[in-house]
Amino acid sequence: MDKNFYITTPIYYPSAKPHMGHAYSSIIADFFARFKRIDDFNVNFLTGTDEHGLKIQRAAEKKNIEPLKFCNEISQTFRNLSKILNLTNTDFIRTTEDRHKLSVQSLWSELKKNDDIYLSKYSGWYSVSDEAFYNDDEVEEIDGKKQAKLSKSFVEWMDEESYFFRLSKWQKPLLDYYNKNPEFISPQARKNEVISFVKNGLKDLSVSRKSFSWGIKVPEDDNHVIYVWLDALTNYLSALNYPDKSDILYKNFWPASIHLIGKDILRFHAVYWPAFLLAAKIPLPKKIYSHGWILSGEEKMSKSKGNILDPIDIIDKYGLDPLRYYLIKEVSFGNDGNISQDKLEDCINSDLANNFGNLCQRVTAFTIKNCKGKIPSEINFEKSDLKLLDKFDLNLIREKIDNQDVNFYIDFIVNSLFETNKYFNDQEPWKKKDNLVRLNTIVYTTLEIVRRISFMLYPIIPESALKALQIFKISEKEIKFSTLSNNNYLKAESNINMIDILFKKIEKKND
Ligand code: MSP
Repeated sequence: MDKNFYITTPIYYPSAKPHMGHAYSSIIADFFARFKRIDDFNVNFLTGTDEHGLKIQRAAEKKNIEPLKFCNEISQTFRNLSKILNLTNTDFIRTTEDRHKLSVQSLWSELKKNDDIYLSKYSGWYSVSDEAFYNDDEVEEIDGKKQAKLSKSFVEWMDEESYFFRLSKWQKPLLDYYNKNPEFISPQARKNEVISFVKNGLKDLSVSRKSFSWGIKVPEDDNHVIYVWLDALTNYLSALNYPDKSDILYKNFWPASIHLIGKDILRFHAVYWPAFLLAAKIPLPKKIYSHGWILSGEEKMSKSKGNILDPIDIIDKYGLDPLRYYLIKEVSFGNDGNISQDKLEDCINSDLANNFGNLCQRVTAFTIKNCKGKIPSEINFEKSDLKLLDKFDLNLIREKIDNQDVNFYIDFIVNSLFETNKYFNDQEPWKKKDNLVRLNTIVYTTLEIVRRISFMLYPIIPESALKALQIFKISEKEIKFSTLSNNNYLKAESNINMIDILFKKIEKKND
């Protein structure tokens, strides 16, 4: 079995500082990366910034700063955000780096060599905000201004000499590929969208620009810069040192296990990217997963709409783990999700403070008082204990994660916490002082479940799960799913430790 796992986030435009939508993509990617790591995978996790193109050039001009200087500053805020979000990315790529330029130009030369690129002229609509070309039927006029129907961003007419990629030639191979690899695009609804777009016919794609200079030069034609999406998508390969296919990173991690993206950039990832790769005879990534949007009100959060929720403000107010938990739990994965501080506070109070934090405190305090602070040894499992313990079917959990069923995962945790709290209450160990074996067994079972749930929570709320695992003095590198398999339970007679309160309850104004 291949134990290498390569996950990527989109690379972010450093045209403005990061917002909650960016934080969301990154946190979800970190969740998968951490899950795989504690399941003994060798994980490569890439994020970074997408720094070329007219959008960035104009943003820099507006501020009267050189594009590179402009990017240096904002790219750094994305790098800082990775630390603030406690991401475990193994690399951070910038498209202005030499390693990336080399990869992009190599990929271009490969496409040119295979006769997939030719010189012609582009006349049509272009959205700088989306960095995308649109057909007439994808554009509408509102208040005298032309805009893209889907993204509502303004388009401008473009008329210039351009190199083209023979996208039309790849229509059938792409459809065959989707057909033979039903897992390639997920969720299903997005896959259907892509297939119907491709079935409608593909026109050759303009892949260079002549009217501005902020980009990677076309090899052997200095007058053109490479289209920013061909440039940007290649980041997934340049971080593995492509074109050196003998490089250990490339050998271990290509094809990528999963490109995690938002639904607005699906066409680039599920149509253009695989077509470029097919043309360059490079294997395709195993999966493109497109998540929904974080909405503010009914609209996508974005700079141009001015409805941004700043992740740093939320973290300053509530802490990082509550935000991570909330985004993973409340935004049903694959769909859009509306977020609010009110719901975040409910989540902290009920799930984190009451259900998880309280359970940890309660069972630890009880063990210290009634079991000499040790994991009890004289135990005898009954049906009610085994019913709880047997629920942790690791193979099922792994299978769900391999299908990106984050919703199953979080529901599993929430239900387990609910059932374990109920079990501890119903079993009333405090009334079992004349039946020590029973008292011990209830304590043992509850502690073991706390360990299991903390392991499962670690990819979501790493800092808090680690604090909880201090009950057993389990360190970060000892968090391994393999230690939960085959009835591998807690070692009896080891000491346990009291821990600080994990989550403070928020006093709500209307409480
Ligand atoms: N630079 C391109 C991606 C190139 S990848 C080879 C880009 N950048 S972006 O900064 O505009 O967006 C990056 C990601 O953030 C996208 O996946 C996008 O879907 C996601 N989000 C931006 N706003 C979002 C929300 N409001 N909600 C959730 N994710 C959204 O596109």
